[in-house]
Amino acid sequence: MKNDILIAYYSWHGNTRKIAELIERETGGTLFEIKPVEPYTTDYQAVVAQAKEEIQAGFRPALLEPASPLNRAHGLPGTVILWDKP
Ligand SMILES: Cc1cc2nc3c(=O)[nH]c(=O)nc-3n(C[C@H](O)[C@H](O)[C@H](O)COP(=O)(O)O)c2cc1C
Repeated sequence: MKNDILIAYYSWHGNTRKIAELIERETGGTLFEIKPVEPYTTDYQAVVAQAKEEIQAGFRPALLEPASPLNRAHGLPGTVILWDKP
């Protein structure tokens, strides 16, 4: 890693990724994309319905690389807002 700043983010449609890349450029930190094992559909209406159900059920998706570099000293988590919850 370039320094001890980790920029961990989840992006469904790419907006959060762009912001994370800007933060990377400004801080020299290291990007880490949080990816679910099962990618979410790109269909907006379908993902809205799925997200609502998952949040109501307290579902936590399995991740491809669970938390491996996430215990860094200085983390900058970024995520899309889904149903008012990051
Ligand atoms: C399922 C779903 C739920 C969302 N809920 C909210 C919300 O409650 N409030 C909000 O401001 N934006 C909401 N959005 C809009 C996203 O936060 C917005 O499109 C964001 O830029 C997506 O980031 P991404 O491109 O990194 O995935 C929602 C989007 C989706 C797909």
